[in-house]
Amino acid sequence: KKNRRLVLVSNRLPFQLLEKNKRITLKESDGGLVSALKSYFERESSHAFDEKWWIGSADFPEKRWEGFKHDKKRRPQDFEVEPLFLDTKLYNRFYNGFCNATLWPLFHYFPSFVEFDDDTFRAYEEVNQRFADKLIAFLKPGDLLWIHDYQLMLLPCMIRKMMPDATIGFFLHIPFPNFEIFRLMHRSWKEKIIHGLLGADLLGFHTQEYVQHFLKTVRMVAGLDHYYRAIYVNDRIVKADLFPLGIDYEKFNHASDQLPVKQQKEVVLKNFGSRKIIFSVDRLDYTKGVTHRLAGFERFLEQHGTWREKVVFIMVVVPSRQIISKYNQRRKLIEEQVGRINGKYSTLTWQPIIYRYSHLSFAELSALYQSADIGLITPLRDGMNLVAKEYVASQRDGRGTLILSELAGAASELGEAILVNPVDKEEMAQAIFTALTQPEETQKQNMAILQQRLQEYTVIHWVNDFLKQLQEVKELQKEQE
Ligand code: UDP
Ligand code: G6P
Repeated sequence: KKNRRLVLVSNRLPFQLLEKNKRITLKESDGGLVSALKSYFERESSHAFDEKWWIGSADFPEKRWEGFKHDKKRRPQDFEVEPLFLDTKLYNRFYNGFCNATLWPLFHYFPSFVEFDDDTFRAYEEVNQRFADKLIAFLKPGDLLWIHDYQLMLLPCMIRKMMPDATIGFFLHIPFPNFEIFRLMHRSWKEKIIHGLLGADLLGFHTQEYVQHFLKTVRMVAGLDHYYRAIYVNDRIVKADLFPLGIDYEKFNHASDQLPVKQQKEVVLKNFGSRKIIFSVDRLDYTKGVTHRLAGFERFLEQHGTWREKVVFIMVVVPSRQIISKYNQRRKLIEEQVGRINGKYSTLTWQPIIYRYSHLSFAELSALYQSADIGLITPLRDGMNLVAKEYVASQRDGRGTLILSELAGAASELGEAILVNPVDKEEMAQAIFTALTQPEETQKQNMAILQQRLQEYTVIHWVNDFLKQLQEVKELQKEQE
């Protein structure tokens, strides 16, 4: 019998290894990609695969891994891990450079933040090649390879060249921008990225728009047309389609049954339960619209004097990409703004913004979602935004209102939320007022529709749907041979 293996590849591994006083501890990674793939592995108990692997770059020295990998109790139970160790200088040019100073701002429509540097592109190529070398040595015939996100867009083609029959899926977790933005890149980068991606058999995106942008870009850059989202690359059929990422709905919806969550919730309600709670959580990232969100909240306080002292905004910012200067500057801006607003409106018994800069445990996160009367999620751009979905799933009693940026991928699925333009502080202030005064019946009606939708397409559906289509493309290719 053939050994069926699912091999996931992403730059970020689900954990980091820290070492203190010779003791190795595991720190969970943040962000939507890790949270999606991890919840798939935790949930999926079917035996569709004999082995599940997660390959990514190591955020720790090789020696530490050697000391940890045989620790059967503490290493992940649901999948095998294979870290790739890269030279630090090379990795920094790749990660700080091309990934997060070029691709990330460009694909999120921040062209003025983009650095154009041939040297960091070379590092990008080199790291992708290192991943390819590792995989070519690792893969066996029949393996299902699924590559994730913008850090690895050259990888599909690199593997295809060496293994023409490989089954390769690719999913982009961030927006695919329109061609006018994409074309800002140097010609050779554009061509290599598009041909890199077309090495896959199936390319997945969060929304219809991203698929359309990709297909148009393929035509403009590679001169290839598509027929119902199928592209012929040297007579090999490649498909692009939409697969809106979902969440582990049950995990959030039933979290209130867990004791640590209950305890955390009591703490939150004891301190803030007498007021209406507005909540947001994001990685510290300029795409998340935190400073605009604060401006909107301030405008609300200014306009609605009677609401002061009756509402509190709990804003959690999760540290992210701290070594990149654009991210560091952002922290300072946010903290100054929080300080200024609190200074201006606080009274002896009330502070409008409770700000926290740290990673949250699941119990804390879930307790905050449950306690919040309003989820205020207003990114300037976001591929999907899982936080918005997790907030909705957490409202077991069916109350609560989501205010969501229309520029998040999730907005195309969550139309019953109050959708706002994230830079318009008047609109945001108005939305906060509307949400605070929304009748319970309306809240419940909207929540019920939203929850139903999230329940129908969870992260498990997302994975199964993607893998099924990937296999269908392979069959189609065989028929056409
Ligand atoms: N999250 C996290 N650490 C925290 C708080 C939240 O990893 O301290 C999770 C959160 O539950 C969500 C993910 O991070 O699943 C954020 O995903 P989203 O798509 O909203 O944004 P991204 O960070 O991927 O840009
Ligand atoms: C987003 C990206 C992921 C990334 C995550 C955290 O969700 O789509 O690819 O892993 O942010 O960022 P980091 O740079 O820490 O991996």
